[in-house]
Amino acid sequence: MNLAWIANTNAGAFLRRLRIRIPDLRLGAELGAMRGVEGWLAKEEAELLFALASGVETGCIVEVGSYRGRSTIALALGSRSGHGAPVFALDPHEPFTGALGGDFGPEDRAAFYRNMLRSGCYLDVRLINLDSETVTRGWSKPVSLLWIDGDHSYQGVSRDFNCWQTHLAPDAQVVFDDSLDPRIGPARLIKELLESDAFELVRTVGKVTLLRSLGGRPAVISSAHPLASPRDVRQARA
Ligand SMILES: C[S@@+](CC[C@H](N)C(=O)[O-])C[C@H]1O[C@@H](n2cnc3c(N)ncnc32)[C@H](O)[C@@H]1O
Repeated sequence: MNLAWIANTNAGAFLRRLRIRIPDLRLGAELGAMRGVEGWLAKEEAELLFALASGVETGCIVEVGSYRGRSTIALALGSRSGHGAPVFALDPHEPFTGALGGDFGPEDRAAFYRNMLRSGCYLDVRLINLDSETVTRGWSKPVSLLWIDGDHSYQGVSRDFNCWQTHLAPDAQVVFDDSLDPRIGPARLIKELLESDAFELVRTVGKVTLLRSLGGRPAVISSAHPLASPRDVRQARA
């Protein structure tokens, strides 16, 4: 059995669906609506998002990178079981190749709509089909929970974080996916945020890292600096 066979045959498609669905059998009743929704969020990671969303009493929940709605559903169900904080799901759903090689595009928008309807989470979720830079210019709601799972390049994740940073509530929680892989952006950004003393590490679950804002001055991260990369700095000094 090779990769082309898995990608191109009906039997391969059946195996792909099984691979998605078998781990989902472990999801408890409260997250049952996530079953079969494609994505990379594991059970324990979804439970963390659910618990965090259920604890949001004031302000709102923002997701950056929704794909087909897997993590969106965890946030929506959590919010519903807690205090009903609004969930804003941001994803342009435009053709995009991720830092880990995943291909995304408008078909994901269709699947997102289907999954919101099937799960009933359209009642809780407001889809914003735009990027953070466009949206945050006119944003006025304090963000108590920010979940970042969009562009994992360092420039991408730090751009998204910077856009939202000034909208964070004083004790906001910020969660990053794919946060442990040193080849991509979230790990580097998290290190900078912890070194800035503006955030503290709460915990890591699976590949997800949870930080809490310490409510002080905003963190200044290197991508926000005009000399963004070490090479730029070296060239400027030369
Ligand atoms: C890894 S997927 C998200 C998975 C989703 N959170 C889940 O649990 O299934 C990454 C998504 O980020 C989106 N994306 C890429 N650039 C983005 C940006 N600047 N802002 C928001 N989303 C972005 C892609 O379109 C893609 O759908």
